[in-house]
Amino acid sequence: MTAIPLRFPRRCTVAIDLGTAFLRIAPERFGVVTMPMANTAGAPMRGGVVADPLTVAEMLRPVLSKFWRLGILGPRVLVGAPTDLREKERATLVGALSASGANSIEIIPEPQASAVGAGLDLSSPYAQMVVDVGEGVTDCAIIREGKIVTSHASRVGCSTLRERVRRTVLQKWGLCLTPEEAEKIVQAGVSASPRMTAVPLSTANSETLIIRPEEVREVLEPIIEEILAVSTTLLQNAPHALGCEIIESGIVLTGGGALLPGLRKRLARATDIHVTIPNDPLGTVVTGLQKMGAGMNGEAY
Ligand SMILES: Nc1ncnc2c1ncn2[C@@H]1O[C@H](COP(=O)(O)OP(=O)(O)OP(=O)(O)O)[C@@H](O)[C@H]1O
Ligand SMILES: [Mg+2]
Repeated sequence: MTAIPLRFPRRCTVAIDLGTAFLRIAPERFGVVTMPMANTAGAPMRGGVVADPLTVAEMLRPVLSKFWRLGILGPRVLVGAPTDLREKERATLVGALSASGANSIEIIPEPQASAVGAGLDLSSPYAQMVVDVGEGVTDCAIIREGKIVTSHASRVGCSTLRERVRRTVLQKWGLCLTPEEAEKIVQAGVSASPRMTAVPLSTANSETLIIRPEEVREVLEPIIEEILAVSTTLLQNAPHALGCEIIESGIVLTGGGALLPGLRKRLARATDIHVTIPNDPLGTVVTGLQKMGAGMNGEAY
């Protein structure tokens, strides 16, 4: 008599990058769906962590409801979070995900997921460094064989740069910029030698705000220094041998900050280490989580 092996269905795994600017979801074997948080009322995420758990649960529930199996097996969620996630923030994140229908929740530090998504050679015995400059948090970690050896994060990011521009322009010129107008000034001003910036304003009398390079630098420099200090502090506090390995292997820069013209060069100059940007720096966290989920299910990544 031949025994017929019974295969019980297992839970579906869904990777979620709950970012301050973008929610990115990648169910196993599917592509990534990206949703801007700006379309959501209020600010459900702040500084890389859940600020409004009810809204987050409402956003995720319709998506996760599609991945229940047999009506009883809720999805297993792999979610990214900053390396400095506090206990209370962890509880809020877990609460929001449970309320949205997640059956089991695994929290992965974002730079670790980003390293996998960026395609770093995780079999290398040498330490590698990932710096993720996001909308609300800058998170960096030194990773060896896929595991975090040491990390440092600060709740500063692209939104801090925009907010700083908006506040200064309001105080100095009495103009209330839209986030898009502030973003234009940020995009122009991060490089070490910003040029004259002209921003057409969306006001009724079609004004244009012209800002001199010195003014842009004065506004943005303290925040850029703060962003760069996250990496330099990590390197300064790391054991000497670890720092030497990073000098050899270089730094991988991910997140929206990687797309700010000039930030890669600024980071390379501040650390004296070669900095590279992967193909899709905005998608590394979620694709890394998806690959890690596949690995846990016994598939190769
Ligand atoms: N080409 C670009 N496309 C999208 N965002 C960009 C681009 N260039 C710069 N940015 C900046 O990157 C920000 C989004 O970065 P990212 O997607 O890494 O944030 P997040 O993952 O949502 O936030 P966090 O990880 O901090 O919680 C945008 O709000 C914008 O300021
Ligand atoms: Mg992010």
